[in-house]
Amino acid sequence: MKKSIWKVIIVGICLGLLVTCSLRNDDEDSTDGSTLYERLGGEEAIAAVVKDMTARVAADDRINQFFAKTNIPKFERLLAEHLCLLTGGGCRYTGRDMFTLHQGMGITEDDFNALVENLVATLDSFQVPEAEKAELLQILGGLKTNIVQK
Ligand code: HEM
Repeated sequence: MKKSIWKVIIVGICLGLLVTCSLRNDDEDSTDGSTLYERLGGEEAIAAVVKDMTARVAADDRINQFFAKTNIPKFERLLAEHLCLLTGGGCRYTGRDMFTLHQGMGITEDDFNALVENLVATLDSFQVPEAEKAELLQILGGLKTNIVQK
C-alpha cells in the first residue's frame, strides 16, 4: 500500500479517537453523574441545613410572623422530605403541594427573597460549594410562581 494511503488511515483513526474522547467528556459533567442530593451530603446534611435555615427564619422579623402558628418539627421534617425529592434523593414527600400550601398566605416577592437569603446564609455557613448552591437555588427559584402571590 502507498505511504499516502497509510497516512490517511492513521489520521482517520486519530480523528476518530479524538471525537470519541470529546464525546465521552461531554457526557461526564463535573458532577460524575451523582445527584445534587448526594453532593449536598444526603439525609443528615439536608436535615442540618433545614434546621439551621429554620432558626435563621425564626430570628428574621421580616418573615417570622408567617410561622407563628407552625408546628416547627413537622415543618422541618416535611421541608427535608421536599428538598430530598427536589434534589434527586428519591424520598417520598408527604406534605401538601406548594401552591395549595402557600395559597392565601399573601407571600410577596420580598418575603420569598428574604427566605432565600436565609437559606443562602445557611448554605454559606455549611460551606456548600458554589455549583451545588446555584443548582439548589435554581430549583427553588422555579417554585416561586407557586408560592408568591401577586
Ligand atoms: C422555595 C421556597 C419554599 C419551599 C420549597 C417551601 C416549602 C415548604 C414546605 C415543604 C412546607 C411544609 C409542607 C406542609 O406543611 O404540608 C412549607 C410550609 C410553610 N411555608 Fe413554605 N416553602 C417555601 C417558601 C416559603 C416562603 C417564602 C414563606 C413565607 C415567607 C413560606 C411559608 C411557609 C409557612 C408559614 C409554612 C407552614 C404552614 C403551616 O404552618 O401549616 N414558605 N413550605
